Formats: sequence, structure tokens, C-alpha cells
Amino acid sequence: MEVSDIKKIGVVGAGTMGQGIAISCALAGYEVLLYDIDSGFCDTALGLIQKTFNKSVEKGKLTQLLSDDSFMRIKKANQLSELTVDLVIEAVIENLEVKQKLFLELERINGSKAILATNTSSISINKLAAVLKNPSQCVGLHFFNPAHIMKLVEVISGTATSKGIISVMTEFSKTIGKISVEVKDSPGFIVNRVARHFYVESLKVLEDEVAPHDVIDRLMKSSGFKMGPFELMDLIGIDVNYAVTKSVYEGFEKASKFKPSEIQFQKITEGHLGRKSGKGFYEYSKS
Ligand SMILES: NC(=O)c1ccc[n+]([C@@H]2O[C@H](COP(=O)([O-])OP(=O)(O)OC[C@H]3O[C@@H](n4cnc5c(N)ncnc54)[C@H](O)[C@@H]3O)[C@@H](O)[C@H]2O)c1
Repeated sequence: MEVSDIKKIGVVGAGTMGQGIAISCALAGYEVLLYDIDSGFCDTALGLIQKTFNKSVEKGKLTQLLSDDSFMRIKKANQLSELTVDLVIEAVIENLEVKQKLFLELERINGSKAILATNTSSISINKLAAVLKNPSQCVGLHFFNPAHIMKLVEVISGTATSKGIISVMTEFSKTIGKISVEVKDSPGFIVNRVARHFYVESLKVLEDEVAPHDVIDRLMKSSGFKMGPFELMDLIGIDVNYAVTKSVYEGFEKASKFKPSEIQFQKITEGHLGRKSGKGFYEYSKS
């Protein structure tokens, strides 16, 4: 397969990342089919995508024409079976069994020709591919949040991923305006593995009552970080950040340095997931 063979892309999961990925692909001229297990989420996502395009036009970053054309290229799929595509990028919850089940179904729908790319932050590509008939088509394509703005993409190869698929994904990343880095499968890959300590240690500082979260954020920003750890966790989604830490912790045989924080667990239990729920470490207005 060549990158030019990719015409139609299925984005599965219409949450924070699915929306940004759909925007990036549509802007580059690809037809995008967006599917979410919760049909209502998909409608909400399309509304939010429209808002993002409108804002970009207002700011002079996009022409009205490009915005309208790109938005028209994103269509809602009501059933997973509608996703007969050249490339799938999945951005569903960070759970191995859910992603395995999804890829098995997508492989059944598309045969062995479609590329099955996962936006997982931490789950092993080898474990994910292990259930497939053709694991060579399975690859990691890890975007960063917000996916339509952040340039970096980690292209992750499992042991079975074909070299051809890695080069197609590297080329594809270029076509959607991203800068890709090839990474071998390993818990948390590179960025999330290194960045884990930014979150885990900050949560420990908070737990030890050394300073409140807003003070920790202010200090980290003063020392050169673009965002404080608590602002960033709210942006990422506290549930997502917690799931990634848990997955990396388990991937490294429960090394204490990656131990997930009770503070995050508590916030998830209370439904305080960050920006997407209106409250996390900070409060957000609905507008
Ligand atoms: N949030 C981030 O900053 C970030 C960054 C990089 C990668 N990721 C990864 O991207 C993935 C998605 O994260 P997110 O933040 O967009 O999550 P999210 O909670 O915002 O969205 C997940 C969406 O997936 C849908 N979903 C769940 N199970 C499904 C299924 N079986 N089929 C179809 N849809 C399903 C949910 O309804 C929800 O709309 C995760 O693997 C996460 O680790 C997240």
C-alpha cells in the first residue's frame, strides 16, 4: 500500500482526540467517517468540530471555503459496519480489551487491506495486534492533545507491524501536517513514559501537602513549562491521564515510580474529569 491509496479514513471514538484527529485528516483533504459507540456523542462532537472550524476562521487561520469544505468531509457513521475504509484511527477509551474487540471487528469488516492505527497513549501494540489475523497491519499513531494543533505524532511499531505500513504512516503524518517520530513498542512509548513523572510527582507533592495545585502549576510555568501539570491533566482528561498512568505502571511491573494517585481516582469517582466535564482541578464555564 502507498500513502496515495489512502482516501477514506475511519475515526473511531468521537471524544477529545477523535475530534482533533478528524479535523486534521479533513483539513488535508481526506474523507472522514466518524463513529462513536454513543451516537449522541458523535452529534456533540460534530457540533464541537464545527465550532473549532468557526473559531479558526474568526482568527484568520482558515478561509471560510477551506473550513466549509473540510467540515463537509467529516460524516457521521451510525454503525461500525459503515467503516469500510483504507485507514482506521481509533481513539476510544484506554482499555486493551475494548481496543482488541474493536480492531477484530474492523478487521472482519475490511479484510486484511485496511491499516488499523491506534491512538493509544500507552497500550502495547503487540498485545493489541495479537488477536488479529493480520497483525502486520496494526500500528500505533499517537497524536498529542489538541490533535489538530499539536505537530508531533509517534508512529509505533509492534514486532509484527510491516515496515511498509510504518513508512506509509510516516508519509501519511506528513500529508496531515505532522512531524512523526518512529518508536518501538514499549509501555508509554517515549513522551508518555517520560512525562509520567511530571504528573505522578506533582500529584505526590499535592498529596504530601507541600503546596496547593494552583501554586504547583504557577511554579512549573515560571520554571519554563508551557502548562502546569494540573492544568494539563484537566486538558487531557483526568480519567484518561489516570488510565495511562495505570497502564504504564502495569507495563513496568508495578514500579512504584509510576504508581497512580488516589487523588485522581477520587476525582474520577466524583465525575470531575477536567475540562470535558466542566470541573477537574479547576472549574470551567460551559461556553
Ligand atoms: N486526552 C488526551 O490528551 C490524549 C492524548 C493522546 C492520546 N490519547 C488516547 O486517545 C484515546 C481516546 O482518548 P480521549 O481523551 O479522546 O477520550 P474521551 O473519553 O474524550 O473519548 C473516548 C470516546 O470513545 C468512545 N468509545 C468508547 N468505547 C468505544 C467503542 N467500543 N467504540 C466506539 N467508541 C467508543 C466514547 O463514547 C468516547 O466518546 C485513548 O486511548 C487515550 O489514551 C488521549
